[in-house]
Amino acid sequence: MFNLFKKKKEENKRGDQYLSLKVREVVKETPDTVTIYFEQPEPFLEYRPGQYLTVILELGGKEVRRSYSLCTSPYVDPHPGITIKRVEGGLVSNYLNDQIRPGKTIEIMKPLGHFTTDFHSKNKNHFVMIAGGSGITPIMGISKSILINEPDSKVTLIYCSRSEDQIIFRNQLEKLQDEYKERFKVFHNLSKPSLNWEGMKGRLDQVKIDEILQNNLYPGTAKTKYFVCGPNGLMDIALEALKAKGISDEDIFKESFYTDIEAKEETLKAEGKLSPELTREIEVNVNGESFHFEVPAGMTILEAGLDRDIDMPYSCQSGLCTACRGKLVSGKVDMIEDAGLSQSEIAEGYILCCSSKPASSDIKIIIE
Ligand code: FES
Repeated sequence: MFNLFKKKKEENKRGDQYLSLKVREVVKETPDTVTIYFEQPEPFLEYRPGQYLTVILELGGKEVRRSYSLCTSPYVDPHPGITIKRVEGGLVSNYLNDQIRPGKTIEIMKPLGHFTTDFHSKNKNHFVMIAGGSGITPIMGISKSILINEPDSKVTLIYCSRSEDQIIFRNQLEKLQDEYKERFKVFHNLSKPSLNWEGMKGRLDQVKIDEILQNNLYPGTAKTKYFVCGPNGLMDIALEALKAKGISDEDIFKESFYTDIEAKEETLKAEGKLSPELTREIEVNVNGESFHFEVPAGMTILEAGLDRDIDMPYSCQSGLCTACRGKLVSGKVDMIEDAGLSQSEIAEGYILCCSSKPASSDIKIIIE
């Protein structure tokens, strides 16, 4: 009774975008990767394939947040699941790999993210997916959703892993290939395979990508869309290869899990692209409530807001997940990392508070 009361109070304090989910099952995908499946809450968790959840934990007396992509499809999987690969020395990924058991409750922020697509049973598209390591996670949810919702669309997946035992979802992918023989093809590329491996090996490069795509043309498809997710090196190779083929940006969807925001800031500074760092008074409106506060020189807008205990949404704190997205309605900011935003969002004035510093005195941001 006491716990129920406490839980309700916490949920109210956090607001609508927060939720507690009960762990239903933990599946070991590879030696260093698990998928955590949750019981469906009431009402059911709404999400789009490819989105992510932000996990909020209290570790070592501090609140920590990390985003993990959903590997499931709301169209086929009864229970939502996120996949977590261990990061060496990573506080949260190791905790989730080692300490989470069925029955445990985890606080999350509701699904976010734009790495997804619209599905329609009449579509006749070809989807080319290029994934590396745990970058397969959102691509798994999107691919399953295409196969079930679009009977005339095809999916070609190029999936890079280190070795055979590092292939996440290997069995699931085999089953899907059996089930959708004419519409789903998977090409594994292993950087360090065993001697028995007969598939592609070494680094993925433009030649391999070209060869696969040339041999997998689907004449009946109206449009080809490209989804890329994985480590930066792989993403750079894939994006360059697609660019060299003349594929337009609007047909390429990408999601990055990694960035070095400090190095980026140094580069921008050296190029003279950042405004002088000054303490500025700004206004931030969070879900209809206005706050006026100072952002000390050198701090991001999110850091200053959290220091004042303002409940600003956030997750990755590195410009990738968009949980901290707000609309700049007046003033100017220096946004160090904008990888999470699309070009049209930037043109509409959206900024990421975790990677933005004030560059003028009349700043007003609306977060909803
Ligand atoms: S918190 Fe993830 S982009 Fe700002």
